Amino acid sequence: MAEEREEREVVETSEAQIAVHWQEEGVIMPSVKFIAQANMADETIYDRFSLDNFPNCFKEYADLLDWDEYWTEILDTSDAPCFKWFKGGKINASYNCVDRHLAKNKNKTAIHFVPELVEEKTEHITYQELYVRVNEMAALLQDFCGLKAGDRVTLHLPMTPDLPITMLACARLGVIHSQVFGGFSGKAAADRVVDSGSTVLITMDAYYRGGKLLDHKEKADTAVAEAAKEGQKIEKVLVWQRYPGKYSGDTPMVDGRDYFVNEELKKYYGVRIAPVPMPAEAPLFLMYTSGTTGKPKGCQHGTGGYLAYVAGTSKYVQDIHPEDVYWCMADIGWITGHSYIVYGPLAICASSVMYEGIPNYPDAGRCWRIAQDLDVNIFHTAPTAIRALRKIGPDEPAKYNYYFKHMTTVGEPIEPEVWKWYYEVVGKKKAAIVDTWWQTETGGFLCSTLPALKPMKPGSAGPGMPGIHPIIFDDEGNEVPAGTGKAGNICIQNPWPGMFQTIWGDRDRFVRQYFERYCKDPKSTDWRDWPYLTGDAAVMASDGYVRILGRIDDVINVSGHRLGTKEIESAALVVPEVAEAAVVPVRHEIKGKEPDLYVSLRPGFEATDELAKKISQAIVREIGAIARPRKVWIVPDMPKTRSGKIMRRVLGAISNKSDVGDVMTLANPEIVEHITKMVQD
Ligand code: WT7
Repeated sequence: MAEEREEREVVETSEAQIAVHWQEEGVIMPSVKFIAQANMADETIYDRFSLDNFPNCFKEYADLLDWDEYWTEILDTSDAPCFKWFKGGKINASYNCVDRHLAKNKNKTAIHFVPELVEEKTEHITYQELYVRVNEMAALLQDFCGLKAGDRVTLHLPMTPDLPITMLACARLGVIHSQVFGGFSGKAAADRVVDSGSTVLITMDAYYRGGKLLDHKEKADTAVAEAAKEGQKIEKVLVWQRYPGKYSGDTPMVDGRDYFVNEELKKYYGVRIAPVPMPAEAPLFLMYTSGTTGKPKGCQHGTGGYLAYVAGTSKYVQDIHPEDVYWCMADIGWITGHSYIVYGPLAICASSVMYEGIPNYPDAGRCWRIAQDLDVNIFHTAPTAIRALRKIGPDEPAKYNYYFKHMTTVGEPIEPEVWKWYYEVVGKKKAAIVDTWWQTETGGFLCSTLPALKPMKPGSAGPGMPGIHPIIFDDEGNEVPAGTGKAGNICIQNPWPGMFQTIWGDRDRFVRQYFERYCKDPKSTDWRDWPYLTGDAAVMASDGYVRILGRIDDVINVSGHRLGTKEIESAALVVPEVAEAAVVPVRHEIKGKEPDLYVSLRPGFEATDELAKKISQAIVREIGAIARPRKVWIVPDMPKTRSGKIMRRVLGAISNKSDVGDVMTLANPEIVEHITKMVQD
């Protein structure tokens, strides 16, 4: 009961916080020029994908792909809510992203790779070249590592073409890849190695960030050691070299365990590996994400359904045409990069830009110079990057001669003022903007406008995608009707092909976390009984446009990346002096949110700056720099309920300098004033 109440309070806080500042904005129609060329300008798509035509509507997406064997059943619900799409079909993702384009487009650039250092030249990898490199890497994985369909392999790679090449090589064999964001720590990689049962870790010696060549190989050494402690032996560590032929790592290679990919690949020169026809529902990859508990969950994405969904949405929402140059500035270590740098764009034979570094290196004009020089006309990024670029170089875009026809924002709610700068200054008032709302779990977009069919509304993601039917429920399970201005828990009424299949190895958690809340009959095999709980609070306007208010669970969205509060708290508890830890989100001008960490110490220990630093470092070591707290507050005691529950809401209010509300019912109300003084003075 107490827990439920707390959850509700969180919803109300976010609604109040955001709704007050965000008035419903007016709409803006994209230009006639944009509409005239759009891939999807046929309004009947919404009828074709109505609930009445569900699930057969998704045949349209499946038909964007080449199947080795065409499927026989569009949606199998017999194991609901583990839905199987395109049953009976056989397909290979690598074939669809590479081989099938060779006949007509072998000379087309598949990947434009822009290294961070300005003096290094952009590399243009054609589809033919991609084909060669993917085949050779697949040969190495198969013959040298002994990997086969169904095996898992963990990738811990930064943003160089070796990453998509490795992913596509895995997909060619039916090997399930699990890419861990390069910025995560060795320990975080180890946790994912253990959970997925990988015996091979693929990494890189070093990469550039902010102009510095950072050692990365050292994290692999940590990962191997940490995984071993959990009983998972990594047999081989494959090390790509940032400069082939030259080792840029700081730690020695381990004999019989570590191998340079560039060296080993020489043995497979010219080898071609036939793509393995995989069942449509075979897992393609795992992507770990944070949730309400300390343990990240491996979202398992399938092959046929996922690829169909990201191909369809890349075509109709990203509006990618053969002649376009498309740049998604995400990191491939996140789902956005998997779906909208690699699988979606390559499935539809796009030219996709990959940039190694940070947007402001060496100066605030870098992104716009890249756009100008490669003639990028579709640009895709997140509010945190837009805020940062606006802050450091509000007038930079005007100095460069590029032209975007289309732009995307994704990852967190975008403030209307920031949206307007994006539209007016970055897009030069010419680009159609889509605000795409979705999640690691959902594989592709849930809500967005189709850019030629629906107007833009700053701050709103838009209506459900064709075939995606959102609904907002209150805590009692009643529908909150559109246009009432009331917030609730946004759910999706129906399954869709891009949706994850389960949490790797934990079907119970999958059902519990995403479906239990609004499922009326847990035995039902009718999809109508299994609304998908997204974990976001949202408001739906009368026109069906959805405004996302934020998470209802213990997840903090830092710079568009999900961090579990429990995950950070358990990292803090690794430090022996720490007795209790509580993490709360604090508003941040650029990052959206930042974690503030409160800790109390075990008896006999003293609060010192060194200790605070040590705790902060422990978090960076356990998770990665992205989780580094804004501040570690060592407090004499946590504000607690009489039953001993830490009141995170009170700490959150203190950190954000907002009203703490009534605290008299706490077990220790006096501590609130003490902490407030400490934090706000
Ligand atoms: C959470 C999912 C979507 C891929 C990148 C993040 C928030 C995502 C939006 C948006 C408002 C958004 C939600 C969601 N979110 N996109 N356009 N507007 N909020 O994937 O790490 O799984 O995070 O990000 O809260 O639940 P993720």
